[in-house]
Amino acid sequence: MECEPEIRRRLQEAGQEQLLRFWDELGPGERGSLLGELKLLDGRELREHCRRAQDAYVRESSSPQRLDDRMRPVPPEFLGSAMKSPPEELTTWEEEGYHQISQNKVAVLLLAGGQGTRLGVTYPKGMYHVGLPSGKTLYQIQAERILRLQQLAGEKYSTRCTVPWYIMTSEFTLNPTQKFFEEHNFFGIGRADVIMFEQRMLPAVGFDGKAILERKGKVAMAPDGNGGLYKALADNHILEDMEARGISYIHVYCVDNILVKMADPVFVGFCVSKGADCGAKVVEKSYPSEPVGVVCQVDGIYQVVEYSEISPDTAERRNDDGSLTYNAGNICNHFFSLDFLKSVAGTLEPGLGYHVAIKKVPHVDEEGNLVKPVRPNGIKMEKFVFDVFQFTKNFVAFEVAREEEFSPLKNADTVDKDTPTTARRSLLWQHYRWALKAGATFTDANGCAIVDVSGFPEVGDPPAVCEISPLISYFGEGLDEHLNKKDISSPFMLEIQRVLEEMKI
Ligand code: UD1
Repeated sequence: MECEPEIRRRLQEAGQEQLLRFWDELGPGERGSLLGELKLLDGRELREHCRRAQDAYVRESSSPQRLDDRMRPVPPEFLGSAMKSPPEELTTWEEEGYHQISQNKVAVLLLAGGQGTRLGVTYPKGMYHVGLPSGKTLYQIQAERILRLQQLAGEKYSTRCTVPWYIMTSEFTLNPTQKFFEEHNFFGIGRADVIMFEQRMLPAVGFDGKAILERKGKVAMAPDGNGGLYKALADNHILEDMEARGISYIHVYCVDNILVKMADPVFVGFCVSKGADCGAKVVEKSYPSEPVGVVCQVDGIYQVVEYSEISPDTAERRNDDGSLTYNAGNICNHFFSLDFLKSVAGTLEPGLGYHVAIKKVPHVDEEGNLVKPVRPNGIKMEKFVFDVFQFTKNFVAFEVAREEEFSPLKNADTVDKDTPTTARRSLLWQHYRWALKAGATFTDANGCAIVDVSGFPEVGDPPAVCEISPLISYFGEGLDEHLNKKDISSPFMLEIQRVLEEMKI
């Protein structure tokens, strides 16, 4: 098979003919798949992309962009708080949220196109299980939370409601995610209400401005960042689907937070009550260099300054009372109105800038040998989901308690933070607290009472192991009837099956 002249010409024009360097050595299958890949690359866009990547790299390495002097914290009047706002306001927001959910106006949208490089698994992060007694994966936990939330909102307003689950995947995650959901019968959610779609990929570029070959017949491609969401929404006609379903509000979240409160009625209700077109949930940063972005203003415009883009001095700056000045840690939980997403996907998206990530990109050298670099050699360009904050007319932020809502799975257990162990412990501590609050007591395998040490800092494993199915409780609600005055032998799992069996007795 000859390389199509049109493709060759396009690459020449883009200054990227090196992508065909090994054409003569490729077998028919490899040629076919390389051609398929190259056909998707528009010549002009490819040239622009490589030039932009190289320029950004040169700029970043000579004078990294610093926003420090232009940053200001979020003004308190735009910040709601699950801990500090008056209880009657929280109740009003929660009611508003449930009402919207019960009227089928709320959807959740999962960002699941990332490669999970730090965790080091070859499959999508959502398929990971962190070693809970139930063995549930992140996807299953999230699916069960949706089912429970639909039930709660439906019961409150006597409706049958649906919270559609949109899942953005990438070339890396689409097929395994689809297969996983099929194998698990979509965890009991109607198939039509789980909508998977794919984000675009972009070539990784070398420091010389040339797109990199990962193998002789394969361009090194990476997803275009979680801000690729907005192009993907347009590419896949997702906003039309939302409109047809009557959706008005969307909760966007990332896959790895085991405590995520999807379509949280309080957060949704808060944003709706404030007339917000865009909102972000935040937690107090736990230490200055914690790898979370900070929600703040830059030149008076809302923005997240990413952990890789803030200087240590600014991250460590403190107020008179000792608290961190830039304290509003982004937990990648965002609220958008459908109208806002329409305006972004329709016209504003091209105004989003790219962020540069310098990475080690496996590649073939001039002689065609596979190289696993020890030093960064490539530039990946990404858009970030929160960069649309600059376009909002009414932005709000909502602060929540970390121990209730944020414990991300980022790294393998070889480090201390944000690992399978820390995620598992966060969930089990939360369920242990819920059980105690519902009036349960615990005994160990020998029948000895386990002393309640809650209230102390939660280090290590909780004193008793208690896992509660999200199908039974979404945020600790409704547990009295199952656990009040119950003496429970640890380890314990409260599952629907057990509840049904008890009811039969
Ligand atoms: C992200 C946030 C950071 C926040 C932290 C909290 C962004 C850009 N950064 O950082 O501000 O403090 O979470 O945990 O949002 N994803 C895609 N497509 C991609 C790349 C990523 O869908 O091309 C998804 C991932 O699957 C994941 C989410 O986006 O669900 C976050 O991506 P990740 O790379 O883990 O972001 P962090 O650097 O941890």
